[in-house]
Amino acid sequence: MFSTRILRPTLTTFSAISKRKITTTSATLSDKLFVHRDTSVNNLNSKFEFSKENQKVVDEIIAKYPVQYKKGATIPLLHLAQKQLGWTSLSAMNEVARILEVPPMRVYEVATFYTMFNRDPVGKYFLQVCTTTPCELCGSTEILNTVQKHLGIKVGETTKDGKFTLVEVECAGACVNAPVLAVNDDYFEDLTPETTIKVLDALKAGQSPKAGPQSSRQNCEPAPGLTTLTTEPYGPGFGVRADL
Ligand code: FES
Repeated sequence: MFSTRILRPTLTTFSAISKRKITTTSATLSDKLFVHRDTSVNNLNSKFEFSKENQKVVDEIIAKYPVQYKKGATIPLLHLAQKQLGWTSLSAMNEVARILEVPPMRVYEVATFYTMFNRDPVGKYFLQVCTTTPCELCGSTEILNTVQKHLGIKVGETTKDGKFTLVEVECAGACVNAPVLAVNDDYFEDLTPETTIKVLDALKAGQSPKAGPQSSRQNCEPAPGLTTLTTEPYGPGFGVRADL
């Protein structure tokens, strides 16, 4: 299991950036990660079945695997179940086990290993703030603090209206556009506290803010501007003898 804790450098040379001690890293208790406890919405009696539409997707996914290895579809099916329900319930895991004809424990093992599977309900907007080193160096602590303050929740909590759930994650794979906040499937990048608030307010208002860099740059081009390919592209025939 990948640890959700990492050693963070002491940023003595980056005095403008908020510093965090290792003890401030949010703790995820092992019983939360690995143990199921029945709740009113997550127990053996809560029903889960794939929608008609998703049933077709299930068949398509399973068809990619040799018949004797259809258990290889565990992660894609869990992912599909989470997309449908918004989180991964006990019944969803059991349904995946039933479809793949494996003992439910085989599915539980996968769902508890990967933290991408939320085994408790989450808000309509699932906010994941990356706080790994490149994001931290670009100010992710301010972004995390801004989200917490603006929404009035701490890491691991959901707002009272059920709209936002906040978690802290390790590298979201978009370091070049650090700091990064993932909202469901969208990445908001190059954030500042001000642009973070703008994104949150737009979501609160039911709008769909434009994902991607919130700075002026396009995608992940160099932040100070282009450093290569700055001249006009050569036309066809460049460097070819005129008589050819
Ligand atoms: S460190 Fe944040 S996206 Fe990689």
